[in-house]
Amino acid sequence: MTKFKPAAWPRVLRSQEGWFGGTSKDNIYHRSWMKNQGLPSDLFDGRPVIGICNTWSQLTPCNAHLRDLAERVKHGIYEAGGLPLEFPVFSAGESTLRPTAMMFRNLAAMDVEEALRGTPLDGVVLMVGCDKTTPALLMGAASVDIPAIVVTGGPMLNGKWRGQDIGSGTSLWQLSEDRKAGKISTEDFLEAEIAMSRSPGSCNTMGTASTMASMAEALGMALSGNAAIPAVDSRRRVMAHVTGRRIVQMVKDDLKPSDVMTKEAFENAIRVNGAIGGSTNAVIHLLAIAGRVGIDLTLDDWDRLGRDIPTIVNLQPSGKYLMEEFFYAGGLPVVIKALGEAGKLHNDALTVSGDTMWDQVKDVQNWNDDVIRPFEKALTQSGGIAVVKGNLAPNGAVLKPSAATPALLTHRGRAVVFEDIDDYKAKIYDENLDIDENCIMVLKNCGPKGYPGMAEVGNMGLPPKVLRKGITDMVRISDARMSGTAYGTVVLHTSPEAAAGGPLAVVQNGDMIELDVPNRKLHLDISDEELKKRLDNWKSTVPVPESGYAYLYYKSVIGADKGADFDFLVGHRGKEIPKDSH
Ligand code: FES
Repeated sequence: MTKFKPAAWPRVLRSQEGWFGGTSKDNIYHRSWMKNQGLPSDLFDGRPVIGICNTWSQLTPCNAHLRDLAERVKHGIYEAGGLPLEFPVFSAGESTLRPTAMMFRNLAAMDVEEALRGTPLDGVVLMVGCDKTTPALLMGAASVDIPAIVVTGGPMLNGKWRGQDIGSGTSLWQLSEDRKAGKISTEDFLEAEIAMSRSPGSCNTMGTASTMASMAEALGMALSGNAAIPAVDSRRRVMAHVTGRRIVQMVKDDLKPSDVMTKEAFENAIRVNGAIGGSTNAVIHLLAIAGRVGIDLTLDDWDRLGRDIPTIVNLQPSGKYLMEEFFYAGGLPVVIKALGEAGKLHNDALTVSGDTMWDQVKDVQNWNDDVIRPFEKALTQSGGIAVVKGNLAPNGAVLKPSAATPALLTHRGRAVVFEDIDDYKAKIYDENLDIDENCIMVLKNCGPKGYPGMAEVGNMGLPPKVLRKGITDMVRISDARMSGTAYGTVVLHTSPEAAAGGPLAVVQNGDMIELDVPNRKLHLDISDEELKKRLDNWKSTVPVPESGYAYLYYKSVIGADKGADFDFLVGHRGKEIPKDSH
C-alpha cells in the first residue's frame, strides 16, 4: 500500500494566509473585491478555496461545453464545504490553432502554473478535453503541486453516416485517401463532414484526447471511470459533480500531484497506453509531465514497459469501435483490472480518490469482450510504443505497432525525401515522382524547432499513383508527430530533429533505409565517414523566428525525446509566491 498520511484538519490554508484571513488592510482588500460577485462573508471563513481551471473556448470546439460542466463541479465543491472560483486559461484547440496546437501546450502550461501560484487557491479542478489541454494543465499543476484533480469533457457520440459508424479523424483520413483514389466524390465527403461531429465532446476515436483522458485516469489524477463517459451522457455531469466534492477533501488531506504521480504511476500509464492502443503523442506528453514532477522517465521506459503489453481495446484507429462502445463495455477500469490481474500494474499506486488503483477497479466487469478483448484475443500482442534507434535516430524515434502494417515492420527501401511539408505538398501529386510502394517516404524539418511546434504531419498521405494500385500503407519517417487518430507504418519524433542537425537532415533521395521494429533498429545505409561528411557540410534552412512567442519557443524547446517542454520550465517550482505588493 502506498504510504500517504492525510494532513491534520482543521488547519489554516494557503487562501487564508496573506489573502482572505485576518483584518489587515490587505485582507480586507482581497475579500472586498471578491464580494462584488455577491459572495457572502461566511464563504471566507477558512474553508478550502478551489480553482476551476477551465479550458472552455469556442475556438476549442472539443471543450466548448465545459462552461456547463464547470457548474456541476461548483455544485460538488459547495456541497462539500468549499468555495469554487472558476477561471479561464489559454485553450489550445487541435482543429483550429495554427501552426499547430502543440506549439502552445507549453504556453498554456505556463499560464496554468502562474495562475495557480499567484492566486489564493488551495486546490484546483483541471477541466480539459482536446488533446493538448490535458497535458498542459497537468504540467502546470505539477510544477506548483497544490492538490489537483482532472475532469475531462468526454468524447463525442459516434459519427453516423450512410448506416455506418465513423470516427473523428480516422474516418477523415480514410475518406480523404478515398477521394484521392477516386472512390468517393467531393459531395460525398462534404456529406460526411457533419455526420462525423454530431455532439459536444472530444474526438470519439482512441486519438490523443481519449488517450490523454485515459492517461490522466491511469496516472491516478482523475476519478475512476472518467475517461470514457460520453460528453452528453448525464453520467459525465455526475462525474464533474463528484470531482468537485472530492477536491475539497483532497485539500483537507493535502493530497498533492507529487503524491499521486510517482514513477510507479507513470509506469502504470505507459502500460495502459499499450493496452488501449493509445496515441504516440502520449509519449511526448508523459515525458513532459514527468519532467515537471521531477520523475526520471525516458523513451527507454516506454519501450521496456510497453513491449509485452497486448492491445486489447478494439477502438479506431487500431481497431473497430469508438469511445461510446468503450464506455458501455466498462471503460478504462476494465482495462486496468485486466493489467492488474496479469501482474502488469503497480496495484498499490495511490489515486486522487485516496484509494489504490487496484481497490478502484477490482470489482468492475467487462460487458463486451469484443470491445475490450481478453489478452488471448488481443488486437496485437506487441502493443505499446516501439522505440527504434540507430544512426538515423541516435536519440530514438517512435512507432505504434498496433496502427502499422505488420509486413512493413521489417522493411528496407529507397528513400524519397521531402525537405519540408511544403516540398511534400508540391511533389506528392506529381505523377512523375520517382516513387513506388516499396520506397520509404522521408519528411524533414517538422520537429519542435523545424515546423515550429512539431505538427501532426508524420502520417503524410501516399502518392495517388500508389493509392490507385490499392496500396494503403508505406513506411514513412519524419521528425513530426502524428494525430492519435491516424494509422500506418509511420516512424515519428526522430531525434535529434532535422532542424537541430540530426542525421535525418542529411538523408538524400536514393539512400537505402532499413527499419527493423522487432530489433528496434532504424539504419541509414551509408558509411560512418559519409554520414560525418554530410553532417559537417549541413546548414539549416529553417528560418529562425526573431521575436514574439515563436522566438521563445524556438530558443527554449527541448527535443521530442525529452518531452518538448521548455528548458526553463522542466521541474517543480512549488507554490510559494513573493510577498504581497499592496
Ligand atoms: Fe479536439 Fe480531437 S481535435 S479532441
